[in-house]
Amino acid sequence: MSVKTRFDRAFDRELLKEIQEKLDQGLLPQWLQTDPDIYEMELNNIFSRTWQFLGHESELKQPGDYVTRWMVNDPVLLVKTNTGEIKAFLNSCTHRGTHLCTADFGNKKTFTCPFHGWSFNLDGKLIGIVAGNKVYGEAMDKEEWALRPIPRVETYQGLIFGNLDPNAMSLEEYLGDLIWYWDIFLKRSDGGMEVRGTPQRWIVNTNWKCTLENFGGDPYHVPTVHKSTVELGISPSDPLYSSYGHQVVLKHGHCVNVNVASPGANLPPYQGMPEEMWSMFERNLSKGQLDVFYKTTVIVGSCFPNLSFHCPIHGSEGHLHNYLTLRVWRPLGPEKIEIWSWFLIDKAAPEELKENAYKGYISSFGPSGTLEMDDTEIWTRVVQASKGTMARDKYLSYNNLYNYMMGMGKVEPDSSWPGPGTAYPTCYVDFAFRGIHEYWLELLAKDME
Ligand code: FES
Ligand code: FE
Repeated sequence: MSVKTRFDRAFDRELLKEIQEKLDQGLLPQWLQTDPDIYEMELNNIFSRTWQFLGHESELKQPGDYVTRWMVNDPVLLVKTNTGEIKAFLNSCTHRGTHLCTADFGNKKTFTCPFHGWSFNLDGKLIGIVAGNKVYGEAMDKEEWALRPIPRVETYQGLIFGNLDPNAMSLEEYLGDLIWYWDIFLKRSDGGMEVRGTPQRWIVNTNWKCTLENFGGDPYHVPTVHKSTVELGISPSDPLYSSYGHQVVLKHGHCVNVNVASPGANLPPYQGMPEEMWSMFERNLSKGQLDVFYKTTVIVGSCFPNLSFHCPIHGSEGHLHNYLTLRVWRPLGPEKIEIWSWFLIDKAAPEELKENAYKGYISSFGPSGTLEMDDTEIWTRVVQASKGTMARDKYLSYNNLYNYMMGMGKVEPDSSWPGPGTAYPTCYVDFAFRGIHEYWLELLAKDME
């Protein structure tokens, strides 16, 4: 007879209720990051039902251009067809399932399987079979063996998303009020944003929620984890410097932090973008968006479940510029993720600015970036220290709870904020973290109804 220990309690409705009760108190169990049962439920209830970022339209310029991506464990082939449509297929041959296209990007007229040589056109149709009729006979209906499309593919301002649930709500409904904030960078200039270079990707031993939270609601970590920038004089020494601004909690687990400069700091408007672009901003944005953008230093946040965005002011005096990075935190297990990071910049920006901004991004973020290394080290340590016997006690009886209390009962929403969502007048609060987990719990509970 097997003996149940206090550590292997099943993940059930009762436990979910207890987690919700803890969350209401600003607490969450430490084992949420590493528990394999939770990870399985996340794959089924979250990643199979929500919108995931696949890429940007500017990555697919000509018919035949393609990129290969992942929706967690589903390989995706994203193609521009001869009619200019963007299609997404499961990147797996319909004959015996091998990975059809293994290159990161390129241009092709047909995709030929490396296993037995079946060929598919840009619309996913099976157009060639090795030895054709001789082995399958005349009666084989090639239509039946076309590539399998990703059930839903929709775009917003050039951003392409896929959803594995054919009955999911529309992308626009899912993004909801996040659009108001995204438009500040996606719509501000004529022609919108374009991707420069190819996305960088690398593996980190952490959990996807850890990184989602970090970008979604953790400006509090900045003065400590990135202390070296303070020591070098790049960042202010005021420990509150990344608190100034607003943290906004939105529906569906999305969240945004809109930072402004420390009091007394003299930074240029519109994130240091050149003056010749200001009239575009004024034409393309609403008054509320323009007011926010005028004072903003950093817009950083997360789109549930695994996309984050970061739009900072960057550089040193006289050479300030701004760009956008998009991040996908692709889970590879409860303790491992593959990070994908895109660099985007206004299509209408001068070439010199684009190049300088790209260099600034590369030196700060990605595998070669100084700030990235700070964060990576810490994210890894969170998981490392959260899977021991004490941390994984599911009876919530040890003191193994994370503190998500910052701002609770202390900070009230700011009713004068011009944007949608619930906006708090500081970024050193945990409202975004709790918002992420409220929606996370809602989706996990669906399976248990
Ligand atoms: Fe692709 Fe056989 S697996 S042709
Ligand atoms: Fe950081």
